[in-house]
Amino acid sequence: MGERPISADMPARLLDESSASGYLRSRGVIGAEFAQVRALSGGVSNIVLAVDSGAARLVLKQSLERLRVRDVWLAPQARILGEAAALRLAAGLTPGFVPAVVDVDPERFTLTIQRAPDDWVDWKTVLLAGKVDRCVGAQLGSVLARWHSDTLGGTGLPDAMIADTDTFQKLRIGPYHETVAARRPELATAIMSVVDRMRATRVALVHGDFSPKNVLVGSAAALWVIDFEVAHLGDPAFDLAFLLSHLVMKSVHVPESAHLFDEVADSFVEAYSRTVPPALAPDMGHLSAQLGCLLLARVDGKSPSGYLSSGSAETVWRIGTGLLTEPVDDLSEIAERRELSIR
Ligand SMILES: Nc1ncnc2c1ncn2[C@@H]1O[C@H](COP(=O)(O)OP(=O)(O)O)[C@@H](O)[C@H]1O
Ligand SMILES: [Mg+2]
Repeated sequence: MGERPISADMPARLLDESSASGYLRSRGVIGAEFAQVRALSGGVSNIVLAVDSGAARLVLKQSLERLRVRDVWLAPQARILGEAAALRLAAGLTPGFVPAVVDVDPERFTLTIQRAPDDWVDWKTVLLAGKVDRCVGAQLGSVLARWHSDTLGGTGLPDAMIADTDTFQKLRIGPYHETVAARRPELATAIMSVVDRMRATRVALVHGDFSPKNVLVGSAAALWVIDFEVAHLGDPAFDLAFLLSHLVMKSVHVPESAHLFDEVADSFVEAYSRTVPPALAPDMGHLSAQLGCLLLARVDGKSPSGYLSSGSAETVWRIGTGLLTEPVDDLSEIAERRELSIR
């Protein structure tokens, strides 16, 4: 059997725990020594394997054509090449805050990167355990601000990423915004006007999946942002809204820590706003509407939140509807809206 896909329309053959080490040897990424491979849990859109071989500690990621969710959700495997390009760009802008790229295979659609130390944990797990540290919020605000500021106007982005509008459409606008708009026609006009503005705002490198799950934290304030598969030239407010949507959901899910999540949100937006040039200063009305859309999508879109109870999901739905249809003009009002929405 050939290693390559037979035609551009055929998905590349998928790797697994038994085939990964031979594959990495064939690419010269690891040597002949024994390799241990295990699957990493997490995402729905990629095969993600941890590989240890000699001194090499790697993650091998291969994009799936059909995502592992209940609804049918398809996305081109070539998005992994955009992920690799964005990761390299981010590594140059914020050294130490992303893993290094080790290998990229445009035929099998794989990306091999440096793996975090085994005692690092994803920030989602940390937050849900009630350990809510506002310093992480501030660090993320500064890192994100650097990416947005230093790529303003598409500076440094590869031509293929500048030309690509498909990835963001297939991974976000379709499954999130358009799905909610179709399921909740009464909100469609408001949602689609946010989408129109996003589509018209292609101004900087946007991570596209800036969530606590995609932040790995270690000791001594070390952190990495991972998972650039939705990176695109787009609307910076999307990344801010995306992280805030996760903090709002967690504050509803763990109400006793709600004030801590609010502090993290404040530190995040404050650090971001302090670092970006005036052109990128957050427009609160737009950010609010963006956040509203994303909260609605985590209740009614194709990638619903995995941890919200039905009661919490209803609360998130009410907050989202309010933030979309009657946007707030100050971050502190989000917490007030949440308190009013809890019944
Ligand atoms: N460089 C890395 N170091 C350590 N763990 C990683 C690394 N990259 C990914 N992982 C682990 O694998 C999981 C899935 O990887 P991710 O890149 O987020 O893929 P997906 O797009 O499928 O979410 C992450 O949530 C994390 O637990
Ligand atoms: Mg991920």
